[in-house]
Amino acid sequence: MASSKVQFVASPGGRLTGTLRVPGDKSISHRSIMLGSLAEGTTRVTGFLDGEDSLATLRAFRDMGVHIEGPDQGAVTIHGVGMHGLRAPAAPLDLGNSGTSMRLMCGLLAGQGMEVTLVGDESLSRRPMKRVTDPLARMGADIGAADAGTAPLQIHAVDTLRGIDYRMPVASAQVKSCLLLAGMYAQGQTCVTEPAPTRDHTERMLQGFGYAVRSDAGRACLDGGGRLRACDIDVPGDISSAAFFLVGASIAQGSDLLLEHVGMNPTRDGVINILRLMGADIEVLDPREVGGEPVADLRVRSAPLSGIRIPEDQVPLAIDEFPVLFIAAACATGQTVLTGAQELRVKESDRIQVMADGLVALGVDARPTPDGIVIQGGAIGAGTVDSHGDHRIAMAFTMAALRARGEIVINDCANVNTSFPRFVELAAGVGSRVVSHDA
Ligand code: S3P
Repeated sequence: MASSKVQFVASPGGRLTGTLRVPGDKSISHRSIMLGSLAEGTTRVTGFLDGEDSLATLRAFRDMGVHIEGPDQGAVTIHGVGMHGLRAPAAPLDLGNSGTSMRLMCGLLAGQGMEVTLVGDESLSRRPMKRVTDPLARMGADIGAADAGTAPLQIHAVDTLRGIDYRMPVASAQVKSCLLLAGMYAQGQTCVTEPAPTRDHTERMLQGFGYAVRSDAGRACLDGGGRLRACDIDVPGDISSAAFFLVGASIAQGSDLLLEHVGMNPTRDGVINILRLMGADIEVLDPREVGGEPVADLRVRSAPLSGIRIPEDQVPLAIDEFPVLFIAAACATGQTVLTGAQELRVKESDRIQVMADGLVALGVDARPTPDGIVIQGGAIGAGTVDSHGDHRIAMAFTMAALRARGEIVINDCANVNTSFPRFVELAAGVGSRVVSHDA
């Protein structure tokens, strides 16, 4: 585990030019290990994200007896054990900082008939888990949690799960995916209805592995008792990682950057829609389909941005991109208003408060509200901000330096490795003036 004392120092100015391929999609990487492990046959993955989060999932399945080779330059080979081939791990599974690992695995393991404990780091141990353990209990699962409904989670063996028809109170792909994965082990049909569209990688990948999912009008259903057949997966670049560069190149004058092979799933493209509404110049080149997921190259050139009222229907489609979108808002002319985004308060950090604190420290007028923020565009000053161990906050403030009046020092950056290993090297390679120190 990397030191929690890593500090980024980003000098002001610069422009982003050249060509860049960001690391593989985190959501798809997690799911490739989960489904590949339960499949019959050998699954070959390319473009796998070798970040701490997806590696936590990989290690957890190794600890449950799955033979997994790699990652070796993005290549992972998973020798699937079949739906009932996992072995109880000898010790608690440590999922580090990864909410996706914990919530999806909670569902996947609930009906395996074995005892497993899931633990995480300080941030993950604060995040709400009742949103998965409550509906799983309705399916007949037996899962213990800390009093606050948080990890550690003790999954106990039960004889059977029952399918449910669940209407999610929050738009969460993690909850939807958790229940669909549990539903594979349940009697009868499991259906999940979402209040707004969320990322559909689980549904797409299940189909790719030959497991029928019926999706229609915000409702996904599957029958228990099916099987998964191994397949090959080419993981596209993560649009959530590309987002830092979409904003960086938009705000830094003279930028012209090509981002190659970016995942363009329509449940993930809110960041492009929002930036375009603000006036960004983003061209989608050579749209294509790779292994059931849309992919394209993105050319982004600097452009003057204007503040907007962010449409609420874009919030779940850009849920991980708000830290850097707030940097775009700080560089825009006029006011940007975000509402309907209370979920940001329960991410790796309270992203509304932590971003507001950082922006204010840099002299930006940023006012948090219970479900969003109001940001007045203007000049970004110099100063020190604390990422609170949140990878996306650290990377967002790195981009802010492109338009800042002075140096920005960002503390507690080790967790950038959870989603974007070699971020500093790649960012510096296209023109960011960032360096990393072990403080
Ligand atoms: C994820 C879903 C999102 C997202 C997270 C990854 C996934 O969480 O924030 O980074 O892979 O399913 P919610 O679905 O809880 O919003």
